[in-house]
Amino acid sequence: MCGIVGYVGSRQAAPIMLDGLKRLEYRGYDSAGIVVCSGEGLTLCKTKGYVDHLSDMVCNGDALRGTVGLGHTRWATHGRPSDENAHPHLSDGGKIAVVHNGIIENYAQLREMLVAKGVTFRSETDTEVAVNLISYFYKGDLLKAVAEAALRLEGSYALGILCEDCPDMIVAVRKESPLILGIGRGENFLASDVTALIPHTRDVIYMEDGEIATLTKDEVRVYSRDLVEIKKETARVEWDISAAEKGGYEHFMFKEIMEQPEAIRKTVSPRLRGGRVQIEGLDFTPEYLKSLKKIYLVGCGSAYHVGVVAKYNMEKMLRIPVETALASEFRYSSPLVDERTLVICISQSGETADTIAAMREAKRLGAKVLSIVNVMGSTIANESDYCVYTWAGPEIAVATTKAYSTQLAVTYLLTLYFAELLGVIPDDEYKKLVEALSELPEKVDEILKNKEHIQYLASLYFNKDNIFFIGRNIDYALTLEASLKLKEISYIHSDAYAAGELKHGTISLIEDGTLVIAMASYVRLLEKTISNIVEVRSRGAEILTLTTKSAEAQVSRVSDHVIAIPDAEEMVLPSLAVVPMQLFAYYVALSRGCSIDKPRNLAKSVTVE
Ligand code: F6R
Repeated sequence: MCGIVGYVGSRQAAPIMLDGLKRLEYRGYDSAGIVVCSGEGLTLCKTKGYVDHLSDMVCNGDALRGTVGLGHTRWATHGRPSDENAHPHLSDGGKIAVVHNGIIENYAQLREMLVAKGVTFRSETDTEVAVNLISYFYKGDLLKAVAEAALRLEGSYALGILCEDCPDMIVAVRKESPLILGIGRGENFLASDVTALIPHTRDVIYMEDGEIATLTKDEVRVYSRDLVEIKKETARVEWDISAAEKGGYEHFMFKEIMEQPEAIRKTVSPRLRGGRVQIEGLDFTPEYLKSLKKIYLVGCGSAYHVGVVAKYNMEKMLRIPVETALASEFRYSSPLVDERTLVICISQSGETADTIAAMREAKRLGAKVLSIVNVMGSTIANESDYCVYTWAGPEIAVATTKAYSTQLAVTYLLTLYFAELLGVIPDDEYKKLVEALSELPEKVDEILKNKEHIQYLASLYFNKDNIFFIGRNIDYALTLEASLKLKEISYIHSDAYAAGELKHGTISLIEDGTLVIAMASYVRLLEKTISNIVEVRSRGAEILTLTTKSAEAQVSRVSDHVIAIPDAEEMVLPSLAVVPMQLFAYYVALSRGCSIDKPRNLAKSVTVE
C-alpha cells in the first residue's frame, strides 16, 4: 500500500528510483512521483497513472539530475488519484519534500493549526500536513524537526524526507508502516520492501516503530524517538534478484502459480525430519495445549480463507474448538480471548493493518500469538510470540497464490505438530499424513502440467457475468478462495456458497446458462454435493465440477465439464484443489484482457484499516 524508495550516493538517483518504483508498483499504482536533490535545490516530477508514465515524463530519469532522491507509487487514501495528490509533497515554500505511506489520523486538527499559522496547502492529502509540520519545526536541524513532528503525528506512517539545506542526506521515520534501509558501498537506500533494494544490496536494516534514520552516502544511523542512537543489526536477504522478476513469464501471477511446487517444498521439507514434524522456534508443551479452551485463526482476504480450511482440519483432528475471524472484525468484536486461547495470525506481508491490530488485541487480552508470515522482519513476524515463516519467496502479483498455498502447508504442519503433542493421532495415521505432505509438491506439479485443460475451460466461460461456487466442508472453504481469486482479477461477479445453503435463498438466482462451479474433492460428502449439483442443474445451470480422479466418473454424469485432481489424503486436498481454480481465474482474466498483476482499485499490502 504505497511504495517508497530513496537513494543517496554518487550515481544519478532518478533511474535507480524509477527501477525501484517499478518493483514496488504492486503496492499501489494510481500515481507516482520522484524528487531529487542537487546543489541547486529540489526538483520534482509527479503524475497520475503508472510508473511508466512518470518514466516517460522524465526521459527514464535523464531529465532529473541529482544523486539524492525519493520516489513514491501511490494507492490513494486521502484525496483522489491526481497529479496534485501524487507524492512527493513539498512544504509551503518548497524547502522540504516528503513521501509517505500510511494515514495521518489527526491530519484535520494539524492542518487547521498550520493554516492558522499561515501555511498554504495545495493537495487534499494528509501527507501535506506531515511535510508542513516538519517544516514548521525546522530550525536548521532536519533530524530534530522530524523527531518533533513525529511526536505529534497520529496514525501510521513511513516517511522519507529531503531538505534542500542538507542535499546529501535523507531522513526516514516509521510507525506501523514498513521501511527498510539498504546498506551499500558509498551509497545507501531506503524502501518499503526489499524487492526494490535487492538489485543493489542484500544487506538491510529493518526499521522498527518509532525509529528515525539518517542516510548519507557513507553512513546510516538509526535513532529512537528521543534521538538516542541505536545499534541496529544488519540482516542478509537470502533470495536473489530473479525471485522478484518475471523471468520470461507474461505475468507475475502466472509465474507465482508455477512456483508453487517449489514454494511448498521449501516450506515443508525442512520441517519434516526423520518422519516427524519439527518446527523451529516452537516449544509448545502438551500441558499448554491441553489447557487451551480455543484456537483462533485470524487474517484478511485469502489469509482468512486459509484459516477457514485450517479450522476444518484442526477441529477434526485436535478436538479443540477452533474459530476463524476476519481480522477487521476480530479487533472490534470484544473477542472471548484470554491466556487459555492460542491466536494464529496469518499474513503474507506481515504488515496488514487489521491483522496487526488483531494480534496486538489478542496479546493484550493475554493470549499467545503464533503467526504464519512470508515477509521476514515484518511487524507481525517481529511482534508475535512465535512465527512460522512460509518460504514462498517474494510475492509480487496482487492476487496471492503461492503465499496462500504455503500458508495452507504450514497449517497442516501445525495440525500434525499439535496432534502429536496432544497424543490424539494414531501413529499410522500420522505417518500417512506426513507422507501426504511430502508428496504435495509432486502432485501440484502434475496439476500444473495439465494447465491447458483449464485454459480451454476458461475459453468457454470467460464471458459469463455471474458465477457461483458451491462446496461442502473443506471444499466450501475453497470456494471462498476460488471465488475471490476470480472476481479480484477478472471483475466477474461471483459468490461462494456452502452447497447445502443454496436452496435457502440463493437458488432463485440460478437460471438457464448460469455457471455453477462445484468443488467436490471432499469425497466423504460426494453424494451430498452431487444432490446439490443436480438441484441447480435441473434449474438450467451449467456445471463445472472439480473432483478427485477416483470420483471423476461419478461426477461426470451430472456435470458439463470436470477437472480431476490427483487423489490425496483429505487434510491436504485443498492444496491440490485450489490450483486449478487459480489457473481458471488467471486464464479467464487473460481472455478478458484484464490487468492481471495490478487489478483495479487494489494494492498488495493493505497497511490501512
Ligand atoms: C487476495 C489477497 C488478499 C490478501 C489480504 C491479506 O488475493 O491477496 O486478500 O490475502 O489482503 O494480506 P496479507 O496476507 O499480506 O495479510
